[in-house]
Amino acid sequence: DDTQPDTLRTPIVAVLGHVDHGKTSLLDEIRGSAVSEAEAGAITQHIGATDIPLSTISSMAGELVNPDDFDLPGLLFIDTPGHHSFSTLRARGGALADIAVLVVDVNDGFQPQTEEAIDILRRTGTPFVVAANKIDTTPGWNPQEGEPIQRSLEAQSERAESMLNENLYEIIGQLSDAGFSADLYWRVQDFQKNIGVVPVSAITAEGIPDLLAVLMGLSQRFMKEEMAIDVHGPGEGTVLEVKDERGFGATVDTVVYDGVIRNGDTIVVGGQDEPIVTEVRALLQPRPLAEIRTEKQFEKVAEVGAAAGVKIAAPDLDDAMAGAPVRVVRDRPLQDVIEEVKAELAEIEVDTAEDGVVVKADTLGSLEAMANALREAEVPIMRAEVGDIAPRDIAIAETANQDEHKALLGFNVDVLANAEDELESADVKLFTNDVIYQLIEDYETYVEEKQR
Ligand code: GTP
Ligand code: MG
Repeated sequence: DDTQPDTLRTPIVAVLGHVDHGKTSLLDEIRGSAVSEAEAGAITQHIGATDIPLSTISSMAGELVNPDDFDLPGLLFIDTPGHHSFSTLRARGGALADIAVLVVDVNDGFQPQTEEAIDILRRTGTPFVVAANKIDTTPGWNPQEGEPIQRSLEAQSERAESMLNENLYEIIGQLSDAGFSADLYWRVQDFQKNIGVVPVSAITAEGIPDLLAVLMGLSQRFMKEEMAIDVHGPGEGTVLEVKDERGFGATVDTVVYDGVIRNGDTIVVGGQDEPIVTEVRALLQPRPLAEIRTEKQFEKVAEVGAAAGVKIAAPDLDDAMAGAPVRVVRDRPLQDVIEEVKAELAEIEVDTAEDGVVVKADTLGSLEAMANALREAEVPIMRAEVGDIAPRDIAIAETANQDEHKALLGFNVDVLANAEDELESADVKLFTNDVIYQLIEDYETYVEEKQR
């Protein structure tokens, strides 16, 4: 590739972790203090993401971030809401996120979704830091609003500090059990070899300057080359979510990680059966400072360049899949781009057997994770698809030969109303869960009991 990159794009930072450990609160706090630190309008809100420019990061992080040390434009944070699997965040042969923040409740330590997130971070080789959140809940804590962690620690009683340390070392131990050498971030010399643990509070903002400084440092040191892109090239992105939007029909919330996407562009999007070729009717961004859930929440924009989150409205997107690629065609043969999308989808195709269970998952990434876990558990798969559980899935599950394979395993999906009726009369067992290994455990227990 001999295209001369003419700028560095914003690194994409995924925030992930177990339910309720404080991902959204942490982002809200960063966003909130960013809004109060920055000139009005400096913070751009994206679909599914927030862009914080370097100047704002540096004023929030104070002495910890000198803007002259960096030439990346800032950080684009992606929240992974609720049970939404981080595995959606895939891109061309790897992870969509350049770096990640693994949020762990300092009192709770590792929980099932923490383990799941760690597995994906390991598999995709994504560099990450751990935000040990909720330090303000340490008994006897003396909050130091917005201060760097060292200054906050100076204000704590010996007892509070030692209680916090105990929890932090517990997490460091759990990271080590998971195969990662880790330490408190100020003791880490080489962030490529060791995972830095940053104590923070999303409520008092203590440690947030440190977290931002570590993220900027990580991006700058290890990812500068990957951030060099051709900003004018045809856009590439990943679908985060397929959503019906009043007045637009099915739309795809997309993170653009390369190039630019313009209104009117022909795009190819990964679909249920085959790639969807369509034309962009509108590119939608949240209105500045607008409440997300108000009526006219979107503003139409003419183009969006990487890295950014954007809602794409275009005809025929109903069959688009979360986790699937989006490619702008522009100046290239359409067929080449279709082949590219097909090749990318083929990477995540699941091996199926003549006889086996039926698997449904919310995104391509989670389907892939399910397939991997089932292969390890030696459970054959007859069919694996993205989407909610529909009558057709029940009909297929019923055709399994072995009784124990007449089963539907749904990860992060709903059962459609008409499928519910059918489940009552069908000879098919349904399993649903938001944690992959629990789903598989439930199924295995069922099989064991059946064989007894
Ligand atoms: P999901 O999106 O459901 O996975 O949860 P989340 O990880 O985004 O957690 P969220 O930010 O919604 O926080 C869960 C609860 O923990 C909320 O009640 C927060 O107010 C609380 N919380 C989050 N961070 C902190 C913190 O640093 N200190 C304290 N005391 N409470 C916190
Ligand atoms: Mg959340």
